[in-house]
Amino acid sequence: MSNAASGTQQWVWVPKASEIARQAGARLREFFSQGVATEYKGDVDVVTIADRTVEKLIRTRLSEVFPEHGVYGEEGTRERLEGEFRWYVDPLDGTTNFAHGFPQFCVSMGLEQRPAHLKPEEDGTLVAGVIYDPLRDELFSSEKGKGAFLNGKPIRTSPISKLAEALLATGFPSRKRHASPNIHFYQEFTLRSHGVRRAGSAALDLAYVAAGRLEGFWEFNLNPWDTAAGILLVEEAGGRVTDFEGRRYRIDSREILASNGSIHQELLALFADMFAGRDLSPIPTPAEWAAQREAEAAAKG
Ligand code: IPD
Ligand code: CA
Ligand code: CA
Repeated sequence: MSNAASGTQQWVWVPKASEIARQAGARLREFFSQGVATEYKGDVDVVTIADRTVEKLIRTRLSEVFPEHGVYGEEGTRERLEGEFRWYVDPLDGTTNFAHGFPQFCVSMGLEQRPAHLKPEEDGTLVAGVIYDPLRDELFSSEKGKGAFLNGKPIRTSPISKLAEALLATGFPSRKRHASPNIHFYQEFTLRSHGVRRAGSAALDLAYVAAGRLEGFWEFNLNPWDTAAGILLVEEAGGRVTDFEGRRYRIDSREILASNGSIHQELLALFADMFAGRDLSPIPTPAEWAAQREAEAAAKG
């Protein structure tokens, strides 16, 4: 993408990172059309040769174009983490979709700047992010202070200001699924909004909040490679990212709540109610549900 096309000041990292994300995406597209065998990391946590091959490709290309930068990748890359810059890389976000031939996945690369005085547990600043969907050829990109873009055009979060008019997204972990309370939140948010999508790629969910296709997204147990690029995109597009109590999001927070900003307070209020056990919608038994349906049908005549 040219600077003229984006209308921004000079990009520092995005042009090269975008090139790498496009190469990685092209490789994913090839694997996707051939079909790949599925291996298991955990009971339902799948991985494929595409995840590993593409992480290697990104790691190699990053070390060529940004030789000083560190790389922290989902498939195990831990290189040069003592330096000032660190890429969080998810070579294939949406592996379960990919393995089933479900066309929703992406490459995600987020860059953190960590000044020398920072302690290991302290956060640096997210300064660049690129998310690439190779099937739709959609490249979401951002640098701190320079806005968010989709294929070179500026994007903004949606202006909708009521949860009741919002389209949301969430996700569920593939590890320790039984320990996740998220299904209860899924139910409550579904009842109070236009609906909750579970499309299977957290990075694309965040990119869609940035692009105004979704008003909000939350998830309980994510990693920095899932979120780093998407957080910067959402913030640069005018949105807000916190934990479930409204505190500033930290790179290793795991629980993430991202929104267009306008519905954030309503989302936080529902989280607070639910964690306090208030205001839950009782779930009808099958008999109660049938009786309710029949009563409604009778009322209509
Ligand atoms: C997963 C996806 C999914 C989310 C899971 C993630 P992966 O990443 O982002 O949407 O719900 O929590 O682990 O394993 O496909 O890279
Ligand atoms: Ca992921
Ligand atoms: Ca992944």
